[in-house]
Amino acid sequence: MQIRPLLELLADGNFHSGQEIGECLGVSRTSVWKMVNAGLPLGIDLDVQKGVGYRIPGGLDLLDEEAINHWLASNAPGKVCYHQFNEIESTNAYLMDSMHSVDEGVVHICAAEMQTDGRGRRGKVWCSPFGQNLYVSIAFHLSGGGERLSGLSLVVGIAVVQAIEAFGFSGVKLKWPNDIYVHDEKLGGILVELTGSPADGWKVVVGVGLNVYMKDGEVSKSIDQRWTSLVVSGGRDLGNISRNAVLLCLLDCIFKTLAQYELSGFSGFMDEWHRLDYLQGKVVQVLGTDKSGVVLGVQSDGALRLRMSNGGNLVVNAGEVSVRALLD
Ligand code: BTN
Repeated sequence: MQIRPLLELLADGNFHSGQEIGECLGVSRTSVWKMVNAGLPLGIDLDVQKGVGYRIPGGLDLLDEEAINHWLASNAPGKVCYHQFNEIESTNAYLMDSMHSVDEGVVHICAAEMQTDGRGRRGKVWCSPFGQNLYVSIAFHLSGGGERLSGLSLVVGIAVVQAIEAFGFSGVKLKWPNDIYVHDEKLGGILVELTGSPADGWKVVVGVGLNVYMKDGEVSKSIDQRWTSLVVSGGRDLGNISRNAVLLCLLDCIFKTLAQYELSGFSGFMDEWHRLDYLQGKVVQVLGTDKSGVVLGVQSDGALRLRMSNGGNLVVNAGEVSVRALLD
């Protein structure tokens, strides 16, 4: 018995008896009971009441594969293959490992309800409980030299913030190179991975993790930094905003941003970066070194500029190092 049909039935948040579930899914009550007892995916609470049935309090906001494919068919720039999973190790790993190359002009998108080994930057684990947040990766071919890659993760960050703003959230910022922050807490992150060479071009995988519903609880205990989600930071329910709507808006903004990036490179995004810059004027330390300085901003290739205490300037490249705000 597959878990997805069971979750789709319980997604409405109402009680369903074992008999009703069995009838709907064409299995015995015992199979339903066994499946439920084997444990639901990480992050799903199940309320079981004897004589009443089963329910997931608050319901589930599941990704709608059909609707997403439908939207992509008329909104994606060119040919797109959408891969959706209930559970996967990592959407980035899937696109990096399972496809040896990405044909020019074809974009692969992978989204999952949950990741069992979500990857963060600098080898960290990305907490990815079932159905609570967005975990999506986009793979595409990029030709040309390495300089075209340097501003890429920054502009994807801009696209993600613009998508969030489209739903009325404000105060969302970008912590260089690509952490999404709101009120000093991390709302999401971007992981860019690539393989290839200047001669053959690159297979680029851009992974976005955006916390949507996640609240303090067992699953989020493992996160070792201050974090938030749209629901927590917005102090409100999402109402009729679904994860599907956020995902589609995110993809739309990313497609448009990548198209503009092709034309202008990062220099065409400098003003928008300055509007969203979380670190501007803050004192930061370059991780793994004893260097620190005040953030002056970014330069036209996306590198971070610092003014050090000795008066000298320091340029830090994304991908090489990270920085930590000293007053975090
Ligand atoms: C960060 O550390 O800030 C980057 C987090 C990136 C997480 C996303 S979730 C979708 C994609 N798949 C992964 O395994 N990681 C990225």
